Amino acid sequence: MNKPNPNPLSSMDQWEEDLLKRYPDPEMTKEKKDFRNYKDSDREDTVREFYKLNHQYQTYDFVTSKEKEFLVFNKREMSIWEALDYLNTLVDDSDPDIELDQLQHLLQTSESIRKDGHPDWFVLTGLLHDLGKVLCLFGEPQWAVVGDTFPVGCGFSEKIVYPQFFNSNPDFSDDRYSSKLGVYTQNCGLENVKMSWGHDEYLYQILKDYLPKPALYMIRYHSFYAQHREGAYDHLMSEEDHEYFNWVKLFNPYDLYSKAPVPPDVEALKPYYQDLITKYLPEKLSF
Ligand SMILES: [Fe+2]
Ligand SMILES: [Fe+2]
Repeated sequence: MNKPNPNPLSSMDQWEEDLLKRYPDPEMTKEKKDFRNYKDSDREDTVREFYKLNHQYQTYDFVTSKEKEFLVFNKREMSIWEALDYLNTLVDDSDPDIELDQLQHLLQTSESIRKDGHPDWFVLTGLLHDLGKVLCLFGEPQWAVVGDTFPVGCGFSEKIVYPQFFNSNPDFSDDRYSSKLGVYTQNCGLENVKMSWGHDEYLYQILKDYLPKPALYMIRYHSFYAQHREGAYDHLMSEEDHEYFNWVKLFNPYDLYSKAPVPPDVEALKPYYQDLITKYLPEKLSF
């Protein structure tokens, strides 16, 4: 049998496209929704294949090993603009139609937050939230960078997308990890819970000393759809988590539905964002 392709998605944006099918914009017209829901079996197959790998390999031990590897931050020193430029080199050639420039996605998210009059750190969070995807440039496979995140070390919820693929995850049949609470205790708080490894946790760890708590929640849990959309892990959530998840929920539509018909003018916006970056962050960050 052929070895499966470790990177089945033609680009990481394919995962986000698929999210829009699962969670369509409530404000979108029916025609547009139908358009979005076109059946493209090739694309569905690649998204399926992607989740199959993700669910199979994201184990408690895998996350622990990635923490050891990446949370020492010895890969690269970059300013935010350098990191944004670096992330933009992710653009790949295989599917030009759906490839949204990463910087454009970040600026569209932050600009729509700004338009709604939210605090400046919230705007900055919009600009930064996907910077952790630079993991891909450090050679990590797609399934360890993007995709819905979920707790490891306890039972996988049926509400996670493609739950059947967890059958091939070794933790699924490991007594330590397979009960509802696994290694955790009731309502222990997400701070004590290991999440599947990806761009959310990585960027949170890079920025945790610099941004207000609601911003850190948005960054750390923005891909945790099983909780912020489905409420599947209330048994691990503390009171505080519930409170701060209101911010995660507020952030999510900006992430998913802010694609503007006219792309933002990067050069014109740069001075505003440079001031914002200087206000909150050091000149260089360690990745
Ligand atoms: Fe993201
Ligand atoms: Fe995003």
